Amino acid sequence: MNMVQIQLSVQQLSKRYHTGEGVTSISLDVRKGELVTLLGPSGCGKTTVLRSIGGFLEPDSGDILIEGVSVLKSPPEKRPTSMVFQSYNLWPHMTVFDNLAFGLKIRKMKKADIRKAVEDVLKLVRLPDAENKYPGQLSGGQQQRIALARSLLLKPAVLLLDEPFSALDAKLRHEMREELREIQAETGLTMVFVTHDQEEALSISDRIVVMNHGKIEQIASPQEIYDQPSSLYVAQFIGKMNFLKGVISEGQVTVGKLRFSNSKSLSGGGWLAIRPEDVIMSNQEEEGLPGIVKQIMVLGHYAEVSIQLQEYGVIRAFQPRDAVKELHSGDRIYVGFKKVITYPEV
Ligand SMILES: Nc1ncnc2c1ncn2[C@@H]1O[C@H](COP(=O)(O)OP(=O)(O)O)[C@@H](O)[C@H]1O
Ligand SMILES: [Mg+2]
Repeated sequence: MNMVQIQLSVQQLSKRYHTGEGVTSISLDVRKGELVTLLGPSGCGKTTVLRSIGGFLEPDSGDILIEGVSVLKSPPEKRPTSMVFQSYNLWPHMTVFDNLAFGLKIRKMKKADIRKAVEDVLKLVRLPDAENKYPGQLSGGQQQRIALARSLLLKPAVLLLDEPFSALDAKLRHEMREELREIQAETGLTMVFVTHDQEEALSISDRIVVMNHGKIEQIASPQEIYDQPSSLYVAQFIGKMNFLKGVISEGQVTVGKLRFSNSKSLSGGGWLAIRPEDVIMSNQEEEGLPGIVKQIMVLGHYAEVSIQLQEYGVIRAFQPRDAVKELHSGDRIYVGFKKVITYPEV
């Protein structure tokens, strides 16, 4: 028996708009209590998938199961889902309490129970004193917390969040990420989170679904996506990466005098992808590719060094701050790589 409970199963979902755009063959299982992020550039189809799960869009084909039951025929209000949008959609003329109580009244919950539920959820989103305020008296971040609280109150089997923090400033966005993680830990809620921000995806997700032009490129944990991007596209999209053109010879991939194993059996040529933290700098000629230091930027505890390689363009290296103390732009250095990921030439 399968011990992992699948809370949401999207199966072979396709949706094409009259323009020809849309999503193709999206399949994805989300486990109970898991936070899965749909990540990709604007227009890649994230919202289309999310709205299909929520029932706001009818897919052309495929199925959507929640707790093992197809919800395809149910309208949004009958689905065990709830959606948080980038725009908070609070009623401006109603207090926070009334905004929150509204959905529960419709569900015919008793007055005393509503009061208790609203109190509890306001504590959970860290706004215990907001009950009598109007949305206009709250900051953007606070309004988004109320919108989140409103969704939490409905106790959905799956919570859907469509770029909920992208209207907030950077500092607040960071805080909200942490809080969402804490709320998830406290409630055990299953979430599908949408963002175009790879850093946000890496920081909050149990697993990430990387999308490109309406299709899934890779589904994996943040660590795995970062360490083993399955395609050149994912390698380019996630984190900072250097790319060098390699040559296949004697079963190895070479770039200048550096040799790496050809584990993916590439032929002809290939790309080497190297994280900036995997670039080694030295002043010993036999150790690598010759280059000239272009610029050194100290970014807190580490520095980003850009290096003009003689034959391969500019690459970036992350170095501990101490290691760049004696380094100056114009210095001649040699570069090696701790780890490379290879991709076929496209
Ligand atoms: N109602 C619509 N009619 C026609 N095309 C649409 C519609 N909604 C979205 N699209 C197109 O479908 C693609 C995917 O859109 P969307 O799912 O909103 O992407 P994302 O959320 O990743 O930015 C885009 O090219 C978009 O322009
Ligand atoms: Mg979108």
